Amino acid sequence: MDSFELNKIIAAVLLVALLIIGIGKLSNIIFYVEKPKTPGYVVEVENVVASNVVSTAEASVEKIDIGTLMAMGDLATGEKVFKKCAACHSIVKGGKNNIGPALYNVVGRKVGAINDYKYSNALSEYGKEWTFEELNGYLIKPAKWIKGTKMAFAGLRKEKDRASVIKYLNQNSDNPLPLP
Ligand code: HEC
Repeated sequence: MDSFELNKIIAAVLLVALLIIGIGKLSNIIFYVEKPKTPGYVVEVENVVASNVVSTAEASVEKIDIGTLMAMGDLATGEKVFKKCAACHSIVKGGKNNIGPALYNVVGRKVGAINDYKYSNALSEYGKEWTFEELNGYLIKPAKWIKGTKMAFAGLRKEKDRASVIKYLNQNSDNPLPLP
């Protein structure tokens, strides 16, 4: 092999090396992607953690705060929705127990507090008060909120229906509570 051959080989190697470096630089320019300041996947991780925390029994209540929920309701709708409850409940002052206990004054009352009504053990031992939050939770799905309740009612899926009927219950009271 003479030196001319050798030069050609060296030149070829150098050329290839240059090409590789050049293409690398070029592709950096062509495929330059601006990195976001906060990578998207970090947010996703946070979301997963957060949704795990709220995926308890109270999930549907914690997702939306009670003040926002109550603001969705109105009395006229509440009166309409209450027709579903009226099959089992009275709402007027001095109303009688029916299949379910009389509901006049129920908002703010202790759960299971009507003396001459025979509640399930689940309700009479529940020990809380009918706050807006409790009523909302119970009315989403009674059997899930208080296991063992004998209120055979599927529940009100729509937020507006629950907010409205709770407003209506609150209105039918000697001392309506201030809305949250
Ligand atoms: C099929 C009959 C039935 C229907 C319909 C029904 N309930 Fe009831 N409800 C009951 C019974 C029975 C109880 C008693 C539950 C227990 O002792 O476990 C009850 C209990 C309650 C309580 C607890 C009262 C207390 O004194 O602690 C509230 C509040 C209530 N119902 C609200 C409603 C509302 C609001 C609706 C309509 C959206 C409704 N119910 C529909 C039968 C019914």
